[in-house]
Amino acid sequence: MRIVFALGLCFLTSSIFAQTKKPAPKPVAGPGQQVYEQYCLSCHQVDGSGVPNLNPPLKQSEWVTGDKTRLINVILKGLQEPIEINGETFDNVMPAHDFLSDKEISDVLTFIRSSFGNKAEAVSAEDVKKVRAVK
Ligand code: HEC
Repeated sequence: MRIVFALGLCFLTSSIFAQTKKPAPKPVAGPGQQVYEQYCLSCHQVDGSGVPNLNPPLKQSEWVTGDKTRLINVILKGLQEPIEINGETFDNVMPAHDFLSDKEISDVLTFIRSSFGNKAEAVSAEDVKKVRAVK
């Protein structure tokens, strides 16, 4: 009986120990990634590389890392004009995503500006609010 108890205690402490040893979640897995996976991934792909001749890449794109207002407007109004990214031309339809909240848009843009090798500063919900107000 005592052995069973000791074994049980041993198992309990080792499982508690195993739990505390779990690695912390990756910092990139924030709310912006969730928005990306739900609304953008199907076209722009999991690694932001897009689809040749169809959906432009988000990595190494001036549209992503450059002017915030232009970028926010792509999400609010969509885009339908020939654009060139990394020497490749795209002319397809990006649907407007103005149904997303200011926070969702700022989260997803902050995510794509700091993922796929991109390193640009965050976009705030306040930034999105200002651009949305201009119409
Ligand atoms: C139905 C497919 C589709 C979805 C969904 C979509 N996009 Fe796009 N996106 C496009 C296409 C196509 C273009 C290029 C439009 C053009 O040629 O005028 C584009 C262009 C862009 C651009 C500017 C060009 C570039 O590649 O840097 C950005 C930034 C962008 N999309 C971000 C997003 C984000 C963020 C989301 C999710 C909120 C999203 N897109 C959802 C298809 C899509």
